[in-house]
Amino acid sequence: MATGLFRRAVSRVSTPASKLIRSRAHASEAQAQQVEAKAKDQSKMKTFSIYRWNPDNPTKPQLQDYEIDLKDCGPMVLDALIKIKNEMDPTLTFRRSCREGICGSCAMNIDGCNGLACLTKISSGASTTITPLPHMFVIKDLVVDMTNFYNQYKSIEPWLKRKTPPPVPGKEIPQSKKDRAKLDGMYECILCACCSTSCPSYWWNPESYLGPAALLHAHRWISDSRDEYTKERLDAICDEFKLYRCHTILNCARACPKGLNPGKEITTIKHLQLSTGI
Ligand code: SF4
Ligand code: SF4
Ligand code: FES
Repeated sequence: MATGLFRRAVSRVSTPASKLIRSRAHASEAQAQQVEAKAKDQSKMKTFSIYRWNPDNPTKPQLQDYEIDLKDCGPMVLDALIKIKNEMDPTLTFRRSCREGICGSCAMNIDGCNGLACLTKISSGASTTITPLPHMFVIKDLVVDMTNFYNQYKSIEPWLKRKTPPPVPGKEIPQSKKDRAKLDGMYECILCACCSTSCPSYWWNPESYLGPAALLHAHRWISDSRDEYTKERLDAICDEFKLYRCHTILNCARACPKGLNPGKEITTIKHLQLSTGI
């Protein structure tokens, strides 16, 4: 015990020479930190080139540049857009609501890929280009007209349809865990349209081809054990254009911010149609 105390006391003894060496080392370390901090400061500026088009002044659409200090901004693309709108240009128009990948309203094209601005991290590059979802009619800036997309969703009748009354009148219709699991990979869809607007077949046939999002939902209801219109649902979409414009390119799966695979669901619908002879 006594020996240990003695050793610790001895180790704290320092000479004037060693003090000088240590203070010089601290000074050069502080200098290096200052240089590094300065370099970091400079690398935090980033340019966002954003698609602008105003129906009240309908000149040619253009990309407008905004420089942002990322030190003073959240990590996501939506944070940057909100910062620009709040601090630099209140006329910039875009949709957003939940800021956590649930509402689907902040879908846009970021550096060439469709995605949700609230779930897309600001990249480390010097600039980022943001444009509206491709091949959609623009209402203003990053806001696109979703009417056709929602009408297609409505056309697949996305609600439970029954021919018989529920087993217990006025109560919910039970579903086994196994049947419920069949809806995984479909019920999570938030209708953001990232998939449909990344699909070349949808670009060229937006009114006749239902597109991956609506077809994924069609399959969600076809697969629901409580629904009693399976055959009619399959029949309704068995069409050269509504369904068979899908050529399994799988852009849709790549674009989906929720990790879903609409292309796979479409293939399953085609197999079901073959096996049921529709
Ligand atoms: S798999 Fe079908 S729906 Fe998906 S991108 Fe390709 S053509 Fe479009
Ligand atoms: S399948 Fe994915 S990309 Fe397509 S609408 Fe649903 S959530 Fe969006
Ligand atoms: S703000 Fe809701 S999904 Fe991005």
